[in-house]
Amino acid sequence: MEIIIKENGEAASEAAARVVARLVREKPNAVLGLATGSTPLVLYRELIRLHKEDGLDFSQVTTFNLDEYAGLEKEHEQSYHSFMWKNLFSQINIHPEKVHIPDGMADDIPLSCATYESTIIANGGIDLQVLGIGSDGHIGFNEPTSSFASRTRIKTLTQQTVTDNARFFDGDENKVPHHCITMGIGTIMDARMNLMLAFGEGKAEAVAAMVEGPVSAIMPASILQHHPAAKVFIDEPAASALTLSDYYRWVYDGKPRWQQDA
Ligand code: PGA
Repeated sequence: MEIIIKENGEAASEAAARVVARLVREKPNAVLGLATGSTPLVLYRELIRLHKEDGLDFSQVTTFNLDEYAGLEKEHEQSYHSFMWKNLFSQINIHPEKVHIPDGMADDIPLSCATYESTIIANGGIDLQVLGIGSDGHIGFNEPTSSFASRTRIKTLTQQTVTDNARFFDGDENKVPHHCITMGIGTIMDARMNLMLAFGEGKAEAVAAMVEGPVSAIMPASILQHHPAAKVFIDEPAASALTLSDYYRWVYDGKPRWQQDA
């Protein structure tokens, strides 16, 4: 894993955006895996800026989102469909038919999940997957003890995740859906690059366990230790529980700029 520690979330998000932008410039028909939550918002803001000011072109880009709440209409303001259109897609030149988000209202959920997987494959696989980490170590909505071999499927959220996400539902845990559709850990591991963002002290323990702890299903994000191209962009508070943070800084600072953004 490559650990990139920046002074704040803004700087970390901008560095992550440079990696995404470089991929899209080099491969205009790149397939991006995208995430929701508060963490990627500045990354998306920066991609919008690069589109508007530098002409970063998304017209041939295909996207697959990690997850969606089960039982929320697309139009619900807290659906991940709404989130993505509000915070990114409506402000870049992406083709709506190239956007893929799991269907939280599918009548046949297993069929819909299998189709999601086969559509990823039909598009050549995901080049770069954006990830956040839950305070319980989840990636996507793959909660602790999710199979490392899992594919897109329905999952039940942990109480911790329901509590964490209640802030988006007027602080009311009863309004948070308890089920979701999520790419599996196997799906995420198939991405050619994984780009993880984590900010704030609340993520410090999960980040340390992901990077330096044992690889274990109880900490789903720790599987990224087995990924050949996993980059972790964090701010100082999220780095505060890492044992080898000085080493990670030394490695990154010693790289030429082209390699930092690759
Ligand atoms: P957050 O969520 O970005 O809202 O902290 C991250 C996650 O749950 O994966």
